[in-house]
Amino acid sequence: MKSASSSKKGAWGTRLGFYLAAIGSAFGLGNLWRFPYVVAENGGGAFVLLYVALVFVIGMPFLVGELLLGKTSRKSVIMAMLELRNNKKAELERAQPGGGAKLPWVARSLPWVGFLSAVLCLIVLAYYAVISGWVLHFFMQFLVPFFSSENLAPNQALNVLLDNGWLQVLLTSVHLLLVMVIVAKDVEEGIERWVGYMMPAFVVLLIVLAVKSLSLDTAPEALRFLLYPDFSKLRISSLGQALGHVLFTLSIGFGTMFTFGSYLQEKSYIPIAGFRVATLDSMISLFAGVLIFPLVLASQDPIYGPELLFQTVPVLFGNIEGGHIFGIGFFLCLYLAALGASIGLLETIVSNVIQVTKMKRSKAAILAVLLCFIVALVPALSSSLLASFKMGGRGVLELLDAGLINWLLPIAALVISQVVAYQIDDKLKRNQFIDRLSVSSTKLYSHWMFALKWVAPPIIILALVLQLVGLFR
Ligand code: PHE
Repeated sequence: MKSASSSKKGAWGTRLGFYLAAIGSAFGLGNLWRFPYVVAENGGGAFVLLYVALVFVIGMPFLVGELLLGKTSRKSVIMAMLELRNNKKAELERAQPGGGAKLPWVARSLPWVGFLSAVLCLIVLAYYAVISGWVLHFFMQFLVPFFSSENLAPNQALNVLLDNGWLQVLLTSVHLLLVMVIVAKDVEEGIERWVGYMMPAFVVLLIVLAVKSLSLDTAPEALRFLLYPDFSKLRISSLGQALGHVLFTLSIGFGTMFTFGSYLQEKSYIPIAGFRVATLDSMISLFAGVLIFPLVLASQDPIYGPELLFQTVPVLFGNIEGGHIFGIGFFLCLYLAALGASIGLLETIVSNVIQVTKMKRSKAAILAVLLCFIVALVPALSSSLLASFKMGGRGVLELLDAGLINWLLPIAALVISQVVAYQIDDKLKRNQFIDRLSVSSTKLYSHWMFALKWVAPPIIILALVLQLVGLFR
């Protein structure tokens, strides 16, 4: 990934560079930590089906839209929205010189959309950093006994973490500092590549572990849970949760893909890029499900919440030959995935701050991380100092996660998609979308527009309304 401040804009040397960064940002804790626990909360197969359908119907068109908007504006999300508003204003003045006509409210509020995206990034990064800290903790738990004769007790490791809020604060700060140094020093390109090269290794590791997990007695039941759609298990809020997760896992609505799009080369063809990123990311999530659910069913009393991954997978490593090595490998890869996604989040905030305030990159990174750290204190202390604060059985971390991802994110993504559909010149979009060599791309273009204008808005509005109804039931 290249910085917004650098002069190397639009020069993503190779196609591979873009893919590594985009997939590096999409692939993260969302796939391995969040997906299984949201699936568990929503009853399995039917929810998975809903999720896959939404990836194609909403995720992909939105992803393409964000990349395209980024590529054509070559700016960070706040600046691009500001510019769009100013263009609309100039257009209006040209049409009615001195007429004093007022800009419609949609056009007037464009900069706020960019702002909302940036705030989302900041708060999400805050609790993302807390969970990344958990990953670091488990990595250490596997690494230390490797050098000593101590025995591994995965459940104890989780309890130590949950009881000790200040340990979580410490681990969160370590993660945030690391991300800050990487983004401030503008060395993300190297890191992203590194993260990217580790990913194939991680995918292989996931497959090996999934096969191990499938050899457990609970595997048939787990597969049935994951793949058999029993619609009676869906909850009224499930549509919203599936939607939120699709947007989260594909990094849509945050302005991240927007920023990456703005670094794309002129000749790159966006629809294919969107298709590949979305498909690969969903496949990894499904693998994570296959890995985790046999373990969930095998454990005596699983907690269906953010702890799920950390409560189940380490147990597997405790039971298999060479489990330590697997444990080290798994948590190292997971940490790198979390790092790649965190870099994407911080880069989005920093590129916005730099473009809006003209601040220096390093200063912007320090400021953003400081703010993030303050916000992160709340989720970091949620299982200790703030443990008594619960709503509907959900702790602070879960509430924060659900509030942002299931409510705010769909709104931000919807608005951005409508900007793509209605505020961007049709000719410009066609130019980017239609591949002269392929006749079918013209058809694809009209499908894309149809999805953005007529399919996504009613689904998103329905999801939000159902969630609202769910709140009052
Ligand atoms: N998509 C990432 C994940 O699944 C999270 C993320 C969201 C990263 C937004 C960057 C921007 O973990």
